Amino acid sequence: MSRKSNGTRENWGSQLGVILAVSGSAVGLGNFLRFPGQVANNGGGAFMIPYVVSLLIVAIPMATAEWALGRFGGRCGFHSPVGIYYSAGGRKALWGALGALTTVAPFIIGMYYVFIEAWCLIYALQYLGGVLAPLGLRFSLFQGVDAGLFFEDAAGYENFFGATVGIAKDGALFTQAASTTLLATLACVWINFRLTYRGVSRGIEWFCKMASPLILVCAIAVIIRVITLDNPSGIPGRSFLDGLGFMWNPSRNVLNESGEVVDRINVWTTLCDPGVWLAATSQIFFSISICLGAVCTYASYIQPRGDVALSSLASTATNELCEVAFGGLMSIPAAIMFLGPVAAGGFASSFALGFVVLPNVFGLMPLGQFWGFLFFFLLFLAAITSSISMLQPMVALFQETLSLTRERSALLSSGLNMLGTGVVCWFTFNLGALDVFDFWVANFLPLVAAILQTILICFVWGSTSLRSELALGARIKPPYFVVNILKFVSFPYMLLVVLFWGWRNMGSRVQEVVDSRVAQASLAFIGLSLVLTLALAIVLSKRRQKTPDENNETASPEP
Ligand code: PFF
Repeated sequence: MSRKSNGTRENWGSQLGVILAVSGSAVGLGNFLRFPGQVANNGGGAFMIPYVVSLLIVAIPMATAEWALGRFGGRCGFHSPVGIYYSAGGRKALWGALGALTTVAPFIIGMYYVFIEAWCLIYALQYLGGVLAPLGLRFSLFQGVDAGLFFEDAAGYENFFGATVGIAKDGALFTQAASTTLLATLACVWINFRLTYRGVSRGIEWFCKMASPLILVCAIAVIIRVITLDNPSGIPGRSFLDGLGFMWNPSRNVLNESGEVVDRINVWTTLCDPGVWLAATSQIFFSISICLGAVCTYASYIQPRGDVALSSLASTATNELCEVAFGGLMSIPAAIMFLGPVAAGGFASSFALGFVVLPNVFGLMPLGQFWGFLFFFLLFLAAITSSISMLQPMVALFQETLSLTRERSALLSSGLNMLGTGVVCWFTFNLGALDVFDFWVANFLPLVAAILQTILICFVWGSTSLRSELALGARIKPPYFVVNILKFVSFPYMLLVVLFWGWRNMGSRVQEVVDSRVAQASLAFIGLSLVLTLALAIVLSKRRQKTPDENNETASPEP
């Protein structure tokens, strides 16, 4: 059983604490960077159709069921996805192995996530130091740094980003000139380590309680700034509403620099692309952190009679508010207003949008230094509350399999995590390793894990267990229909998306791996991590003895 180092079982301090921690896990770079980038790259408003479909028919029922699954595992004395799935799967090693998949996935995502977290830290500090913004406060915190070191042209920001992430060649960051990025990455690894080391309540919950209001205040301030901007250039097609139109219209016109219509993107063309459906469904999983181990691990630390359905709905709603309302209003409308639809249409990736296009926008904004700082500081805080949740499943697994104290497990997990971050930091040419990790682990794997998790919940653990678990401690009427939705709607829907995508796109993805040595090395690393986690899963199922809690595994509904 997972215990504090002094031998008592770990729990969240309060119901609000767990909701903030799970919301903190959900609200992150995925909301403010990945989501607008995905929308821009996948047909604008048309992307929102599969997105909303996935939210309603997969994410909400799955999140509720995963919370119930997690709390059940916690009552059986397990906190890692391996242990939780193992107990719900009738103590069959096979289901422990599925848990290995959802333990290793967030762990690997965490390896590149801290790297991006470090970019946010660097950008926030550079704004504070007066390096990145041409207008505004014009003061510098750093001695010797002239407040006028900002860039006069768009290419300056692109070069700054390239140098920060070492995009020119593999190993570029491992030189003295570029060591700032590595130092910032180490600082982020250290912060994550310290918070997981302090434990669920004293580390994770404490930090999320402090950071959540700050994130909210920064986000609202940036939104108000964007909404109240007038069309700065006066060129047609560059108002706030045009920005919203780019983001939300299912079919949209393609405009040139002077605002004339040159083409039209049709909603049906977008909807017939299986890649768009996969991207939308994966975005939902990534964003709410479901089927990625984090939610069920966090839920396993709630009190045996803590509410499940209410907490799940509260954290999903918070995430959607931050993603659709905040993430959707911030970046793209601002970019359209300042740079125009041509630049906006050319967002090559979420990174280009966040780290090149937006600094350009802040560069043109009055008080750009202040807004730039606020935006990247917000990203940095939101990233930390997410990345700690990626480590925790592995920390719990080490505690359960190797009987390590929480402190030692945190040290071991952070050390291994740093190894993977090292791989990502080395293969930086065109962000090769990061892209491979992101596609296979954050896009493709969650959908496969979700299908397997649905089988576990609906057909192995069973509807009756799920219903009783939902009823236990329920403060709102438990949404029992989730069982039927999961079985008869979500499950076939996810199968369809994976098969449709596999049929149309798998060939080209596999070819990319065949052609690229970096992709092969990155996939080998992912494979190795999976094998190690599987080995731990086997150890857990072999070593696990019945504990007193397990005599009481099946929840009885509230009278
Ligand atoms: N939901 C986080 C975000 O939107 O940035 C990312 C994330 C957190 C993914 C936790 C996976 C995970 F286990």
